Amino acid sequence: MGIRFNQVSYDYSSFAQGLYTAIKDINLEITEKNEFIALVGHTGSGKSTLAKHMNALIFPTSGSLEIFGNIITSKRSKKIKYNSIRKKVGLVFQFPEYQLFEETVEKDIMFGPMNFKITRDEAKILAKEALNLVGLDDTYLTRNPYNLSGGEKKRVSIAGILAMDPDILVLDEPTSGLDPAGKRVLMNLFKDINEKTGKTIVIITHDMDLVYQYFNRVLVMNDSKLIYDGLPEQLFKEKDLYINHLDYPNTIKVLTYLNQKLNLNLNVYQKTNADALLEIKRAAKL
Ligand SMILES: Nc1ncnc2c1ncn2[C@@H]1O[C@H](COP(=O)(O)OP(=O)(O)OP(=O)(O)O)[C@@H](O)[C@H]1O
Ligand SMILES: [Mg+2]
Repeated sequence: MGIRFNQVSYDYSSFAQGLYTAIKDINLEITEKNEFIALVGHTGSGKSTLAKHMNALIFPTSGSLEIFGNIITSKRSKKIKYNSIRKKVGLVFQFPEYQLFEETVEKDIMFGPMNFKITRDEAKILAKEALNLVGLDDTYLTRNPYNLSGGEKKRVSIAGILAMDPDILVLDEPTSGLDPAGKRVLMNLFKDINEKTGKTIVIITHDMDLVYQYFNRVLVMNDSKLIYDGLPEQLFKEKDLYINHLDYPNTIKVLTYLNQKLNLNLNVYQKTNADALLEIKRAAKL
């Protein structure tokens, strides 16, 4: 089941710009079972707009979506329980400021679970667990979210969604602005959740190194359209990413450079720095 986009387009209308088509004719299927998907694309290509459709935060201007059996069209339907869709598909916003509004971190994380008929004490336990999962200790529970650093806010908003225990998690640039260690902690947490619970996770990112190392399916948005849906390595082989204002993973860039400059024949498709080093050693017979 999961999420299916059928020919979905979305237009923003603003006084200054008039109509702006942010996503166009999107066809896409995301199952709720064990997918780990990266969503990439240049700035303004429509990634966040696409993500907001996945839990019916916004409705398509044309086309339709099916989310866990609910048909979402341009009109709000009285028959659909949008709250239950948001429990099944958890969306972490790109800018956590829009997601945090309670006066303590604990209350903020408890807010989601409390909407779904659990006791205060149960919600408190969930909040503490979720906070620890994202790498923050209990001293944060009483802090005001407003006074946290950007990276801490991001982690708290992620904890808020984890505490709801959704079937599908959609994370809009969860690692942007974090230090390298923080990035790894969170990516390993998402991978762990995916592997242990089989939940599907969709992550928007600009980081091609992460895409290559962690994901087995990548979606590429370009100028409001979905132009690729498949394996990362195939993407790097098939498409000229520079035309799409995207980058290649560092391993591929460095090994390609070495091939050109030193006239070598290295296999450039290495996921990690360690793999790239092994390939260089192999070629140099070290
Ligand atoms: N509320 C809005 N009103 C008008 N236009 C909007 C609005 N929100 C987004 N847009 C426009 O829609 C397009 C797609 O925006 P979106 O936020 O989906 O891009 P994105 O791929 O997430 O970009 P980024 O990588 O910068 O986060 C952009 O050109 C943006 O200017
Ligand atoms: Mg965005």
